[in-house]
Amino acid sequence: MQRAKLSIIGAGAVGATCAHWAAAKELADVVLIDIPDKLGMTQGRALDLAEAAPVEGFDVKITGTDDYKDTAGSDVVVITAGIPRKPGMSRDDLVQTNVRIVRQVTEQVAASSPDAILIVVSNPLDAMVYTAHRVSCFPHWRVVGQAGCLDVARYCTFIAMEIGCSVEDVRALLMGGHGDDMVPLVRYTTVSGIPVTQLIPADKLEEIVQRARMGGGEIVKLMGSSAYYAPAAGVIQMVESIVRDKKRILPCAGYCDKEYRVGGYFVGVPCVLGTKGVERIIEIELDAEERQMFESSVSHVKELCKLVDGML
Ligand code: NAI
Ligand code: 2OP
Repeated sequence: MQRAKLSIIGAGAVGATCAHWAAAKELADVVLIDIPDKLGMTQGRALDLAEAAPVEGFDVKITGTDDYKDTAGSDVVVITAGIPRKPGMSRDDLVQTNVRIVRQVTEQVAASSPDAILIVVSNPLDAMVYTAHRVSCFPHWRVVGQAGCLDVARYCTFIAMEIGCSVEDVRALLMGGHGDDMVPLVRYTTVSGIPVTQLIPADKLEEIVQRARMGGGEIVKLMGSSAYYAPAAGVIQMVESIVRDKKRILPCAGYCDKEYRVGGYFVGVPCVLGTKGVERIIEIELDAEERQMFESSVSHVKELCKLVDGML
């Protein structure tokens, strides 16, 4: 069986970490690409990672480049190109710069890998997935955004820390946009099958929900720069489900039209990911409060997408 080809656009913190985990899991041959000014850094990161292979025992080809020809025929393309936020900035502050960058890289990706599945990571996430979809003209099931896998991982981490149990036993769902108004769903959170509400008091759970919502900002405050280990882990969870056709149900920014009555935008919803991309969106029941939170988060996404419409 031929190995899959994964191209990662942007060889910065998130891009390079995605390459690391994709290689370590032998998911695909990896091409890291960045701007010509950073060619040395991009080639160096690729070579450094390739030199870890004899120790870690992974057999994949890793290339660092500034030439889209090297990405040609990719099965999956991860777009991390763009500026990250600095302390005091919100994800929305990045929109002007990142629309321009995501537009430019998507044009090149669409030309060199017309059959690829695009996983967008650049922020503000939901608006950047919308940008990549508009620019690529790819069918909507081949364009998806990573945010929910990260946000739900943060939420699960905090729950496991509070209970003092293994993170492996926490199962949760989160919906909406990748903003501070994202919607972790307490009612759909279980620990080894036990509803989390039986294990953590309501006031503590509300604190955990708030901490998960502000999780990106917490890391920026601590490090002075944006997170990358957990974001890259979220991306690779999606890549693995796609290239191995696992059909995992993961919280991703998928295209919703009639689904949840969103009306043609990309927002965080449970998606079945397989070799075709987003193969299905699962519609779950939301109570009145959950629906109100989801709709408020979606209306924020729509405002950002209107800004994007004015820029494209
Ligand atoms: P970084 O600054 O470390 O890396 C970004 C890279 O993109 C740089 O190496 C830069 O040279 C490159 N780049 C810029 N313009 C380019 C172009 N036209 N073509 C190719 N490469 C280009 O930033 P980091 O931390 O890797 O974050 C990347 C993006 O991902 C940011 O927008 C950040 O906000 C976002 N992010 C999203 C997350 C999510 O869950 N959706 C989580 C973490 C970060
Ligand atoms: C995060 O949530 C910056 O969106 C990125 O860490």
